[in-house]
Amino acid sequence: MLQDKIENLKKEITALAAANKEELEAIRLKYLSKKGIIPQLFNDFRLVPPEEKRHIGQLLNELKEAATAHFNTLRDALDNGAQDMAGIDLTRTSYPVRLGTRHPLSIVRNEICDIFAKLGFSIAEGPEVEDDWHVFSSLNFAPDHPARDMQDTFFVTRNPDILLRTHTSSVQTRVMERTQPPIRIICPGRVYRNEAISARAHCFFHQVEALYVDKNVSFADLKQALLFFAKEMFGADTKIRLRPSYFPFTEPSAEMDISCNLCGGKGCSFCKHTGWVEILGCGMVDPNVLDACGIDSSIYSGYALGMGIERITNLKYRVKDLRLFSENDVRFLEEFESV
Ligand code: DAH
Repeated sequence: MLQDKIENLKKEITALAAANKEELEAIRLKYLSKKGIIPQLFNDFRLVPPEEKRHIGQLLNELKEAATAHFNTLRDALDNGAQDMAGIDLTRTSYPVRLGTRHPLSIVRNEICDIFAKLGFSIAEGPEVEDDWHVFSSLNFAPDHPARDMQDTFFVTRNPDILLRTHTSSVQTRVMERTQPPIRIICPGRVYRNEAISARAHCFFHQVEALYVDKNVSFADLKQALLFFAKEMFGADTKIRLRPSYFPFTEPSAEMDISCNLCGGKGCSFCKHTGWVEILGCGMVDPNVLDACGIDSSIYSGYALGMGIERITNLKYRVKDLRLFSENDVRFLEEFESV
């Protein structure tokens, strides 16, 4: 009887597991502590008949040894586990690798695209290495227009037909050539001009172009879209004004100013004390351009506008030196962490 009991107990104890210190302590209390089962058995040993004492005594000792050894094994395992965790700060963020930040020009480009998306414009893109047709000829640039000059345009080879686009207006042509109206696109992208690099000019920068072509598109539609854009981008109090201008691909053409968002239109050094700052060029698509791209100008009309992303970014975030945008200085980029 007692012999069976001892043997079963041994099996039971050596199969035990402890997931934590509390469970381990519970095992000790139940089996090994003074009032635990094993010491209790040693107490009962007194009652064992003398002829069995030797055998049972041996079994009891074996049980105690096995139980103690198993207990120690469980305790060591828990201690080692705790040691593995030592030096690990469980309260630390699970992302010790710092996340990057979006480039300010990307932030502003996305913002511009999002605003026009609300008006139903979808994004269109085109190549940066272009040909003369898409950048100039289709857009009504005269053969002797100064923009075609080496002074302004980067040519990729000796072939004067292959060049880096100087504006994203080339995407207008690409889309109109393959799509009939209604067309409502917004074209963000990088453009190149042969300029000396300084705080105020760079040999590459970024533009967003918008084009809307359909039946009965009027200058009033353009103005409404511009006002919506200005208020969304610079705040509901923003005012706009249009000044007559000239672009080969629009007729009539205009430049848009917004009320200076630094002084609220009162006049400051930023707006050269005029209360206004110029932000984009726009106009009604010249019928010559529509026809050159295979769109019947007797049926359709359209408006277009183009703006520099760097300029808008400067207005929003007051970046004084254009070169900061392409130097990848993390101290500059980190300033846009929360935007
Ligand atoms: N392409 C012009 C530039 O690079 C910007 C521009 C002006 C685009 C008027 C337009 C526009 O679509 O209508 O300066």
